[in-house]
Amino acid sequence: MRHDVQVQLMKQLLAHLDAGTTVDAGGLRRMKTSTYTDLDLAEREMAEFFLDTPQCVGMSGDLAEPGAFLTINDLTIPILATRDTDGTFKAFVNSCRHRGAIVESEERGTKRRFTCPFHSWSYDAGGTLVGLPKSDHFGEVDTDCLGLRSLPAEERHGLLFVHPNPDGEIDLDELLGEWFNEEFPTWNFGSLIPINHDAYDTACNWKLAMDTFGETYHFSSLHKDTLLNSFHGNVQCYDDDGHNHRMILCRRDIDEMRSMPEEEWDITVAGLPVYWLFPNVIIMPFRAGCFLVRAYPTSGDPGRHVSRIDFYMKPELAEASGPEADEINDFIASIAQNFAEIIRDEDYVMGASQQTAANAGALEHIVFGRNEPALHHYHATYAAKLGHDVEPLLDPADLHQRF
Ligand code: FES
Ligand SMILES: [Fe+2]
Repeated sequence: MRHDVQVQLMKQLLAHLDAGTTVDAGGLRRMKTSTYTDLDLAEREMAEFFLDTPQCVGMSGDLAEPGAFLTINDLTIPILATRDTDGTFKAFVNSCRHRGAIVESEERGTKRRFTCPFHSWSYDAGGTLVGLPKSDHFGEVDTDCLGLRSLPAEERHGLLFVHPNPDGEIDLDELLGEWFNEEFPTWNFGSLIPINHDAYDTACNWKLAMDTFGETYHFSSLHKDTLLNSFHGNVQCYDDDGHNHRMILCRRDIDEMRSMPEEEWDITVAGLPVYWLFPNVIIMPFRAGCFLVRAYPTSGDPGRHVSRIDFYMKPELAEASGPEADEINDFIASIAQNFAEIIRDEDYVMGASQQTAANAGALEHIVFGRNEPALHHYHATYAAKLGHDVEPLLDPADLHQRF
């Protein structure tokens, strides 16, 4: 992030802190609880937001060397993403061209050949069929025509994107928008080293998982014994750009800025940037690295989803030695556990509780506050993309009635 933008955002946070204010969505907005339970809606979301939209599947460091691969099984189509021998990022339908078996079943790793377990047809990292046992018995085939089916794949700003539809198009100018395309290079995501990953399979709709990252109003209640020790609750910056947005959460260390010259102010000391990338991605760069969160609906069950969390560190940390290295190793060892204790064990417990009530039809609507603008934005974004009416802000005249 450009330093002048960092300073401007930190000044906004300090002004909010000093005045006891926060961002303002301009009003309250109702949301139908059926958005979390409706099976038809869930099927449209899967078809349009996931199978017909380019998906971020990781960062460049996840495919650090030729032959490195990831498999993605969160969409209804199995995907194999690879780093080809020439360094190109590639993606394929992970289904053998012989009789369709899943070729690669490991989640990640590095291989020279991907060999189908059924009859051992094998493919290289570029998807070319390079081995067909007993080919004289099998019969003549043109191996050039039997490579793995390619999927559109593009790497930009250190992020890996795949389109799950072989005929789909990736337009990252449109998906990322002008603002993120300008700002993302400043974070050097491409240099980050993966250090851990985790998955939370939770009985709540994928949007409830996204919701929990969309406001800090809950910090002083739900996270009073955890996050609140290092963050201020109910103070944040918020800006949107088309279907994406960015929040800045406020760390307690922001007070250090008050006595420092502005040239030394650092947004990763004073806050936590939270980039929300349509439809299901949250990117949070912090001082030592970055969190990448992706929420995937469970096909056929609107009340369930899987969140995938990837943890990355800056390359300079890998070069540390002595006591500093010990400290970094402790940090690496604890990062997934610390994140899980807050997100999985606090936030997602609330998500499951909200889902239980929504499944029961306990309430027809819930309500988003003025201090929760990100929730207004992405629910309005989802609705607009599906051609649904976007709930307007509640009329002040209605605020004194039960809604
Ligand atoms: S299905 Fe893969 S080798 Fe036969
Ligand atoms: Fe939270």
